[in-house]
Formats: sequence, structure tokens, C-alpha cells
Amino acid sequence: MRAIRLISPHLDFIPNETSRGLWESDQNGACWAEYEPLSDTLSALAKPMRVLEIGPGLGRSIVFFSKKFGWEDCDLHAYEGDGETTKYTLNGPRFEDSFCGTISELRRVLDYNGITNVTIHDAKLAALKDLPGPFDLLYGFYTIGFHWSLEHFFDEVLGLIGKTGIAVFTVPSNFQPFPRLRQLPYRLAEKVRIDAGSEKLLILGPVASGA
Ligand SMILES: C[S@@+](CC[C@H](N)C(=O)[O-])C[C@H]1O[C@@H](n2cnc3c(N)ncnc32)[C@H](O)[C@@H]1O
Repeated sequence: MRAIRLISPHLDFIPNETSRGLWESDQNGACWAEYEPLSDTLSALAKPMRVLEIGPGLGRSIVFFSKKFGWEDCDLHAYEGDGETTKYTLNGPRFEDSFCGTISELRRVLDYNGITNVTIHDAKLAALKDLPGPFDLLYGFYTIGFHWSLEHFFDEVLGLIGKTGIAVFTVPSNFQPFPRLRQLPYRLAEKVRIDAGSEKLLILGPVASGA
């Protein structure tokens, strides 16, 4: 419950079966809403591939995508940091103590689902720029790009996908591309989630395909 409260402070859950069911619906709804618009793009990526998820929280997407896209032979990485408080902004600045994950619970969810091929990188020990790229796919949902503007992380993201990888992020519905993004190949995909806001998905790259 503590780990859920840290990443989803708007949900007033208690440890009972009703809250568990609501959390299950919430998480499944989010996963399907991302899967639908991304399915063709992610299915087309050649396997085995190298994947990095930024800010996975409790790992809902990496579990869902692993099962849906068959990532068992892929080299999967997750970048997360343990946090004590939640400091969400919308498209806001970058700051050092923004992490609100619980790595032990992330590991527990991965283990429970039999996902054994994920290397977790602790943000307290490794800087984003030092992760072992390049990655064929880098993605983050409701993390950088949404709470903390992608602009502040753009150099690292470009370094991690190189010329041939792609990056995907949830962005707010009123997202406006910043000047450096406009010079690169990108598109915005609509995301339909009946129980929540209408965020979009930003799909960036491959950079080698030109603007
Ligand atoms: C709203 S949660 C999203 C969790 C998960 N992606 C999901 O959609 O369920 C935001 C996540 O971003 C992580 N985060 C915070 N600051 C970050 C940063 N600077 N870089 C990467 N992730 C960060 C938090 O630790 C947290 O796990």
C-alpha cells in the first residue's frame, strides 16, 4: 500500500479486496490504453532487442508488454529510484528528489510474474546518462515527458536511443513540441482511456530516418 500510495497519491486505497480490485482495473486500463496505439509500432521492432523503461513504478507496463510482445529473450532494463515523498508536477522542471518508486516492490512484481530478464538500475547509484545504451526501445509512462518535461532529459534520451532506437513517452494532452524535438522525426498518438484524462503518446525516432 505504501508503494502504491507513493506513485498514485490520488488513490485513497486501504489493504482490502475492494482496493485490490480497483487497482487491478486501474492498472489494466492503463496498460491496454497504451498497448492499442503502440501495438503496430512495437510489434514491428526486430527481436531480440534492448529495452529500457524509465520510471516503471511497480512494473505494470514491463510485465504487460513482456507478455503481449514476447520479450522473454530480450535484454530488459528498468530505471527507478526509491522515494519517500511524491513531488509530481505537470510538464515541470527536473529536480534530484523526484523519484517515488519502491525498488523492492518492483522486483517483487517482476518475480511474481516470472519476468526474470530485467536489470533494475537504481537511480541513486546510476545516472541516466551512464546506463548501458544504445537501446532499441526506450519508454516511460507518466514519468519524464509527463510530470517532468522531456526537454530537461532530452540529451540523455537521444544518447540512449542512438540513431536507430525509438523512444515513447506519455505527454499531457496539451503537449507542445519544443524546438529541438521539432527538428527530429516524431509523432503524437491519441490514447483513449475511458476512466481518465486524455493524455497522448509521443513517439520519437529513429533519428537516422531524418526529420
Ligand atoms: C506516476 S509514476 C508512473 C509509474 C509507471 N510508469 C506507471 O505508469 O504506472 C512516476 C514514476 O516516475 C519516476 N521518476 C521520478 N523522477 C524520475 C526521473 N527523474 N527519471 C525517471 N523516472 C522518474 C518515479 O519514481 C515513479 O516511479
